[in-house]
Amino acid sequence: MSAATILQELEAVSKAAVDELKRVTNEEALLAWRTTYLGKNAVVVKAFSSLGALPTDERPLVGQGANRVKAALESAYNERAQALKESALIQSLGAQALDVTLPGRPRNRGRLHPDTLILRELLQIFGDMGFQVFQSREVETDEYNFQLLNFPLGHPARDMQDTYFLDVPNRGDNPLVLRTHTSPGQIRAMREIASLNPSNPPPVRVIVPGMVFRYEQVDVRHETQFDQLEGLAIGEGITFSDLKGTLTDMARRLFGPSARARFRASYFPFTEPSAEFDIQCFQCHGKGCGVCGGGWLEIGGSGMVHPVVLANGGYDPARYTGFAFGFGVQRIAMLRYGINDIRYFWENDLRFLEQF
Ligand code: PHE
Repeated sequence: MSAATILQELEAVSKAAVDELKRVTNEEALLAWRTTYLGKNAVVVKAFSSLGALPTDERPLVGQGANRVKAALESAYNERAQALKESALIQSLGAQALDVTLPGRPRNRGRLHPDTLILRELLQIFGDMGFQVFQSREVETDEYNFQLLNFPLGHPARDMQDTYFLDVPNRGDNPLVLRTHTSPGQIRAMREIASLNPSNPPPVRVIVPGMVFRYEQVDVRHETQFDQLEGLAIGEGITFSDLKGTLTDMARRLFGPSARARFRASYFPFTEPSAEFDIQCFQCHGKGCGVCGGGWLEIGGSGMVHPVVLANGGYDPARYTGFAFGFGVQRIAMLRYGINDIRYFWENDLRFLEQF
């Protein structure tokens, strides 16, 4: 064979080898390829042994050509072997990533604040009884927060609720305040509903949920701001037993069918008669325990709407009667979820919030 023929053959074999190597996908085929193209009987290897039969001046050319092809095939082989190893590794990792028996990765879920949870429950309970939500303002006038509710200027009952005043000058006897209770919503709701038909005002069934503010010494049971839920029903022939029935029903819906409500005579300027209401402790059922002390839990205030307040709202007290109640929403949430410190509510501590 001439040098030219040998070189041509080497070129052709090299090209075929590289093509074939692309189709090698496992170790067995890779070894077979190596035997064929780099083994004892391979064309490149044989080219070296044929050097002796060539004329001396042609030997270097063929020798160099054979060396170049051999080196190229070896590096192609190494590259392919490495690639096969890597893809085997990726495959085994892939199998692991798809192991459906492994436990899932935890995801952080958003959750509702306990205050929102209890408020939603209360809205549902009163919604079922036919009450609509009336939203009233947080910044009130002295007139609405006190005067129209039958707290005259300088009345000692104002001391029951330590008030935050807004620093707005020249308002005389009617300063702006942060509402100390949701009761001013009674006047606003009555006036709005009465205005629909002033000579024959329609009945009222509203609840007024919202934040109230008091200048309090903060402790486990007192915060400077908290949520109240006010209830108001006005109509013809409404009696105290309607009030008792409504609050007893709320107690049953919140704490179970055997829950009982109790009323204790009390005083509020805007109700007459007035009563504080308690719910029998869900833990000890009235015997007395660590949760309640004396067997009953104090929830809030209530009473029959005072004639002066009815008139201020646009309802003729000779024709209409009504009841009202108001209580702290956090207090219900504390009972419901066993929370023993009201300060947790607005601290935004995740360790607390994540329990709901
Ligand atoms: N507003 C009273 C308070 O905050 C509660 C109350 C509401 C009492 C309605 C009677 C009727 O203490």
